[in-house]
Amino acid sequence: MPLSSKISVAILGATGAVGTELRELLQSRNFPVAQLKLLASPRSAGRHLSFQGEDVLVEAVSENSFKNVDLVLASAGGSTSKAWAATAVESGAAVIDNSSAFRLNPEVPLVIPEVNPEAAATHQGIIANPNCTTILMAMAVWPLHQVQPVQRIIAATYQSASGAGARAMEEVKTQAKAILQGETPPTESFPYPLAFNLFPHNSPLNEQGYCQEEMKMVNETRKIFKAPQLRISATCVRVPVLRAHSEAINLEFTEPMPVAKARELLANAPGVRLVEDWQANYFPMPIDASGRDEVLVGRIRQDLSHPRSLELWLSGDQIRKGAALNAVQIAELLVARNWLKPTAVAVSH
Ligand code: A2P
Repeated sequence: MPLSSKISVAILGATGAVGTELRELLQSRNFPVAQLKLLASPRSAGRHLSFQGEDVLVEAVSENSFKNVDLVLASAGGSTSKAWAATAVESGAAVIDNSSAFRLNPEVPLVIPEVNPEAAATHQGIIANPNCTTILMAMAVWPLHQVQPVQRIIAATYQSASGAGARAMEEVKTQAKAILQGETPPTESFPYPLAFNLFPHNSPLNEQGYCQEEMKMVNETRKIFKAPQLRISATCVRVPVLRAHSEAINLEFTEPMPVAKARELLANAPGVRLVEDWQANYFPMPIDASGRDEVLVGRIRQDLSHPRSLELWLSGDQIRKGAALNAVQIAELLVARNWLKPTAVAVSH
């Protein structure tokens, strides 16, 4: 496909938090959209959302939704992706899927453009967008890992409400108002009130006591880095922040990594912004990361307890680089490299 060609794009989950950001990014990044279809559940059918100054009808996804569509950006949950991805691929579209449905499928590339862009070349119709906490962590770890291999990662996350969708974000505001008025806060999206509270991520637990979100960080990072032996342990926590996640990360290297070297590498890493003002005690915060493309990284310091380990801290917009921006960057990669149509031979990742 010539670079100048415009393509027909569908957003599946167009009314959600990530779907809304996908629409905004396609517009602000001048993605070559010939036609945009907005797909959601029957609940939203008939609504209109604006794109490039025009009102676009939201349609309920159906068998016919993907006819003449070149690219589907899906962010409507795992079961919706499982239900519709094959139909979209059979119709000739490439699907960039933001759910966890296909991420660990060996035939499906799991891509962060700054880390493993070449994996996208081998797709057979579906490319998976990694989990948000995984993307943010990988953005900070990969530039270091390439220079000095990391052998163990210990992470603790501070995850915003946006990871649970647009309704969850609204719910935190409603809860805060209710609590301030002395009322019982409503809890629908989460099992417990999140306003003025926090709790370990409420995804299902495995028999070792790790939740699904924590295991995503383990398994997805190993796949993206092509490092099946990489030792990773995470504790994921939901915090009452609206849309940016933060992470405290401890990295054990095979050989010592000087702090100054790590700082230099991260200052020059694509998609990363070093945020450190040691005099002012100013470091990445979700309030500063919200709405930004870059992952903010800072507070890089020698781990006092281990000569080959560093500590660092990051904040990154969960909806943007953690989801929609990464997906649109994959789409840009497919268009730029002429990789939209699947290659003939399947390659495992
Ligand atoms: P709808 O608004 O019609 O429910 P979020 O992650 O912010 O909660 O957004 C989820 C997105 O996925 C919404 O656009 C939602 O549409 C869409 N969605 C949820 N379930 C389905 C479904 N069964 N079929 C199509 N879209 C769905």
